[in-house]
Amino acid sequence: MYLGIDIGTSAIKVLLTDERLRPVTVASVSLSVQRPFDGWSEQHPQDWLAAIDTAMAEIKAGHQAALSSVRAIGLSGQMHGLVALDKSDEIVRPAILWNDGRNGDEAKELDEKVPAFRTIGGNAVMPGFTAPKALWMARHEADLFNQIKMILLPKDYVRFWLSGEFISDMSDSSGTLWLDVARRDYDDSLLAACHLSRDHVPALAEGEAPAGRLRASLAEKWGITGRPVISGAGDNAAAACGLGVTKPGDAFLSLGTSGVVFAVTDRFAPAADSGAHAFCHALANRWHQMGVILSATDSLSWLAEITGQSVADLARQAAGLSDEGTNLYFHPYLSGERTPHNDPDARGGFFGLSRGHGSAEMAYAVLQGVGYAMTDAVDVLAQTGHRPSELLATGGGSKNHHWLQMICDMTGVPITLPVDGDFGASLGAARLAALADGQDHDMILQKPDIAHHFTPDADRTAFHDERRQHWQALFHAVQQI
Ligand code: XUL
Repeated sequence: MYLGIDIGTSAIKVLLTDERLRPVTVASVSLSVQRPFDGWSEQHPQDWLAAIDTAMAEIKAGHQAALSSVRAIGLSGQMHGLVALDKSDEIVRPAILWNDGRNGDEAKELDEKVPAFRTIGGNAVMPGFTAPKALWMARHEADLFNQIKMILLPKDYVRFWLSGEFISDMSDSSGTLWLDVARRDYDDSLLAACHLSRDHVPALAEGEAPAGRLRASLAEKWGITGRPVISGAGDNAAAACGLGVTKPGDAFLSLGTSGVVFAVTDRFAPAADSGAHAFCHALANRWHQMGVILSATDSLSWLAEITGQSVADLARQAAGLSDEGTNLYFHPYLSGERTPHNDPDARGGFFGLSRGHGSAEMAYAVLQGVGYAMTDAVDVLAQTGHRPSELLATGGGSKNHHWLQMICDMTGVPITLPVDGDFGASLGAARLAALADGQDHDMILQKPDIAHHFTPDADRTAFHDERRQHWQALFHAVQQI
């Protein structure tokens, strides 16, 4: 038995698998995001711990025997979040999340003044990444910044709680921008640019390396005997492991709170000017590129909140409509945007509303606008020579077949939907735990069984190409103002 714990943004997910990595049960506990100011996005790390504890109690209640034979625990989590601890290991401030845009000035400054972020770090300095967040703290919360002993990513704070160890993995740490991504080690000059040194960051380990032992008190509480905690991965690299996206050319599309197009590369392939991210994969000697949009299912959740309807209801209403019938545009930049705009000040909007439009048409436009943003991300990878030839779909939004067909038509890329597409990152974490336990790579990192194939319709692709140009032009016109 293995456990995969994923610290998502909208929920904590704990997956218990059997020896052959088949899901036994999954417990999911919702999380909320605090937005005290426009563009800010925070969570309290204590909420992650409480949610994991609740999920573990639920699993224990139904599967005590299986839980007791867990052999190792894998971790995955939302990337880039800054968790700062003081010398007593207390949290200094709420975690600043991956979709927080408060630090546009610091990101711009690091990007312009320290070219090594692009060459050694492999990426344009974008506000979501950890490095500019630390500089923002140094500038705006100097008292708190001076108290920092250790900066951790979300899943690594959870590891510290589980095991008392300060350790991170290569894929997640790439997203701090303090890594020499080709050498898979910290770069002192990148840390120094943020007034930090190696003393402030955890030790590094590859994704499948043992990295801590579950504290005796938690092992006893949860009834677990196997206590190794495995290094793990950032949620996207973990999802790649869960989907068997491990060889150059393999790719996936994730429709979660964020939207991601992820493509494995055979080497470190920086393309900082394009807006593509170039990070380490969770597996040794492998790297990947990805395009990331900040509000994928989050856009639909927002519409659900303000209309007082459920996401499922909105999706059902939208499925009955067509582009020609709605003629409404939506830009999903509710939290600013990373790929391709790298603009924390970008904002969303509807264009073309008419008296006859209601929530159904707005939901349709939201699905379409997110689809166009994902198509922009596919285009960015294509420009760098990594256009996916097929995309495995994962994330909560992948349950919506209508949306997948829409995105398949827009991108012109065939999409396949696994039987259990929603396990992605937590399954990847459990798989890394199994590798640490000595299981065979080829056996464990297999691709999933496919439930549905989506094939692009060439006429629809041509239609969307033209419509997306109008959608892009609208955004650029508004951006000028
Ligand atoms: C990746 C990113 C998001 C988060 C979401 O760069 O910021 O996909 O990892 O959890």
